[in-house]
Amino acid sequence: MKTTNNTIWITGASSGIGRALALYYARAGGRLVLSSRNREALLEVERQCKPYAAGVLVLPLDLEDNSSYSNLAQQVVATFGTIDLLILNGGISQRSTVIETPAAVERRLMEINYFGTVALAKAVLPVMIRQQRGHLVVVSSIVGKFGWPLRSSYSAAKHALHGYFETLRTEHFNDNIFVTMILPGRVKTNISLHSLKADGSSHGKMDAGQAGGISAEACARQIAKAINKKKKEKLIGGTEIVMARIRRWLPALYYKLVNKQTQQT
Ligand SMILES: NC(=O)c1ccc[n+]([C@@H]2O[C@H](COP(=O)([O-])OP(=O)(O)OC[C@H]3O[C@@H](n4cnc5c(N)ncnc54)[C@H](OP(=O)(O)O)[C@@H]3O)[C@@H](O)[C@H]2O)c1
Repeated sequence: MKTTNNTIWITGASSGIGRALALYYARAGGRLVLSSRNREALLEVERQCKPYAAGVLVLPLDLEDNSSYSNLAQQVVATFGTIDLLILNGGISQRSTVIETPAAVERRLMEINYFGTVALAKAVLPVMIRQQRGHLVVVSSIVGKFGWPLRSSYSAAKHALHGYFETLRTEHFNDNIFVTMILPGRVKTNISLHSLKADGSSHGKMDAGQAGGISAEACARQIAKAINKKKKEKLIGGTEIVMARIRRWLPALYYKLVNKQTQQT
């Protein structure tokens, strides 16, 4: 995909993988739209992108409140004319067991990771249909392919994204709209710090898994490569991504390994 002067809208752009993607596409000469809740953090990412990008628009949004997404999409079109690439990356993880997690926390995880993401895609879809081109990139997770202890609703939300966007891909094949599903394993970001505990508060710890993960910059480069190649699905990470292959080809071994993980983050 040609990046110069293309409009690339990134959610979760204030931190981690989204921030790294913003800097990557800024250096490639793209026109960027940066979204998440934290306006101050987005303005800092904007400051870092501005020397390279063809344009930057900061557009704060909350994935828990989808009432204004159509207006936001119109704002992007009014500013840059097109929406070429929408990277649905914003999200929040979980650190609590099934038995201890109340419905309110489960709903919040679904709202942010699934319903908010889907609502934003639906707000942008009419623009892409009008353009007769566009590319939706959904940042799922390796746990969008299998379950993992302490991730029940997070994993469920990521699984749901696959069903939804696989369907959208086929419904809009003739509109020249592509979908790339990204499945990161472990990436060294603040994801574990912000993960929800059973009482709805933040986990607040950098887990060993995240600390030992690949860098957000390396992840962003691999995402960009998968987008360029119009991959339908891409697993990204270190040795942990072999679990997805074990789950598919050697399920008995997967169950043995995953059962040993119980209660570990
Ligand atoms: N790091 C990993 O190991 C890993 C593995 C698999 C999948 N992923 C996925 O990668 C994506 C990016 O995560 P990350 O690792 O870069 O973590 P991160 O550093 O914590 O970034 C998460 C981003 O999501 C945004 N966000 C959270 N809640 C939001 C809400 N209600 N509305 C709008 N934006 C919200 C945050 O911005 P604000 O706080 O400013 O809103 C932040 O920019 C997520 O979808 C995550 O599930 C990460």
